[in-house]
Amino acid sequence: MTNKIIITIDGWSSCGKSTLAKQLAKALGYVYIDSGAMYRAITLYFLRNHIDWTDNKDVTQALDNIHLHFEYNEKSAQSEIFLNDENVEYVIRDLVVAEKVSDVAAIRAVRTCAVAQQQKMGAKKGIVMDGRDIGTTVFPDAELKIFMTAAISVRVDRRFKEMIEKNPNITIEEVKANLEMRDHIDSHREVSPLRQAEDAILLDNTNIDMMEQLDIALKLVAKAL
Ligand code: DC
Repeated sequence: MTNKIIITIDGWSSCGKSTLAKQLAKALGYVYIDSGAMYRAITLYFLRNHIDWTDNKDVTQALDNIHLHFEYNEKSAQSEIFLNDENVEYVIRDLVVAEKVSDVAAIRAVRTCAVAQQQKMGAKKGIVMDGRDIGTTVFPDAELKIFMTAAISVRVDRRFKEMIEKNPNITIEEVKANLEMRDHIDSHREVSPLRQAEDAILLDNTNIDMMEQLDIALKLVAKAL
């Protein structure tokens, strides 16, 4: 396939965006970028360094000291995020970060900084990026835009199963409250709120499995190409 395109996958928290994005990138030989990991890494930096993110000056200064990059890990077969040269791919998935990330991601300066880096990564196309504003703000001209959704009960269940492995004390109520809170903040913020782009295709995976989902997406890719 010589004709490379940009594929954007947006949607609600925990509806399988990254699973589909990884599958597609693998099938097509494209780069996969998890834009949420960038907001999570910035949040981790703010928490560790006690940055007052209600203060614009502190935020701007902190952003100057943050360097993010992705490196492909052969073992895990995925791109992992580095914060100032430290691999933070796993620590950014903690609930401590999840509880604050939507507040941090709502800050205009944070988004300007992250979006600029994301757009650079897509300059050569051949990329699948997932997030909340990829089809609306980061790559409004992307050739294929998918907007994912799933029933809240299914999303809570999936995220709970993922988190309980790392944190045996976590409760399903905590996971549900976190998802609902993030969905609310992400879709109600002033700067690039989560919404389905007009030209995005809705994919509801409540009742389909991973292989069926990939099959649908590959057909959409073939059409877009
Ligand atoms: O995809 P995720 O759950 O890892 O994302 C974490 C948070 O980052 C999410 O609650 C909202 C924010 N985010 C965003 O605002 N814009 C993006 N493009 C990706 C994530």
